[in-house]
Amino acid sequence: MGWIDRLWRHWARKRLYERRSQLCHVRLMAVPVDQIRQWIEEIPQRIPPYEAFSAVWSQYSGDFVPNYLPYIAFLAHRRHLDRDVILDLACGSGRITEQLLSRFGHVHCLDRSPAMLTRLRSDFAKVRGHLTIHQADFRDFTLPVAVPFVVCAGDSLNYVESPDELAQVFRCVAACLRPGGFFLFDVIQEPTVRVPPTHAAVFEIAGHLFGPYWVCTWMDSDGRTEHSFVVTKDSVEEHRRILIKLEEVAIAAEAAGLELEDQFGNARLYCILRKKGE
Ligand SMILES: C[S@@+](CC[C@H](N)C(=O)[O-])C[C@H]1O[C@@H](n2cnc3c(N)ncnc32)[C@H](O)[C@@H]1O
Repeated sequence: MGWIDRLWRHWARKRLYERRSQLCHVRLMAVPVDQIRQWIEEIPQRIPPYEAFSAVWSQYSGDFVPNYLPYIAFLAHRRHLDRDVILDLACGSGRITEQLLSRFGHVHCLDRSPAMLTRLRSDFAKVRGHLTIHQADFRDFTLPVAVPFVVCAGDSLNYVESPDELAQVFRCVAACLRPGGFFLFDVIQEPTVRVPPTHAAVFEIAGHLFGPYWVCTWMDSDGRTEHSFVVTKDSVEEHRRILIKLEEVAIAAEAAGLELEDQFGNARLYCILRKKGE
């Protein structure tokens, strides 16, 4: 067992997730997909992903914040990499940014959602000098500086539409990494909640100032595409994600000039890619 593997195991055992307080009440149901589709069609207002969800994302997902910091600190020490700057790719409203700011002098935050970035901007107003915010698509971006580390947390890469798009993201990441730098990310490989194929998993969330809302998730018959709808009383936003397998990560990494240094996990896969050189 190599040192990276040992570290991953230690991390998983000790503190895979940071626990945050959940003030809201969550109820999970399995509802026939046809019924959900009909309900959603009756709500007229369609909005882009994370527009309404940005208000509650940190709370909804608060219990699933991977703690990347000890691992990054270890890699930086072991491989003599600086901790001056890091890229938080698909940063969202900044759940991971908070961790990164505690150890890095400067954090570049990149996301395509204006609503998520507005939230991040206001939550991190006091440390504005240590942040640079980029509104961009992770399939086609550049950074003004080369960085030793890139992190993409919270299943964000599942939003690519195909393995080719995954390779596009990896190419952009490779272009902004310093030689020998690391890219750490997590993706889901299978649905996180199992319901019969004809049914959707419906999370009813109540007790939040934002008002009650529902997250309805089901798998396409292709077994690969996951549809999630965030439904409030008057709006619906659709999230489409694909499941990503380790073999696809390896192929896309190779095409982008990155090496798969290690991987960990089952339903949620954690990967470390390393840019060749040094
Ligand atoms: C599940 S959230 C995770 C956010 C953050 N990393 C976290 O852990 O809280 C997924 C994020 O990916 C972003 N995203 C999805 N597709 C994107 C794309 N093509 N380019 C940039 N960001 C994207 C969304 O806007 C959203 O903020």
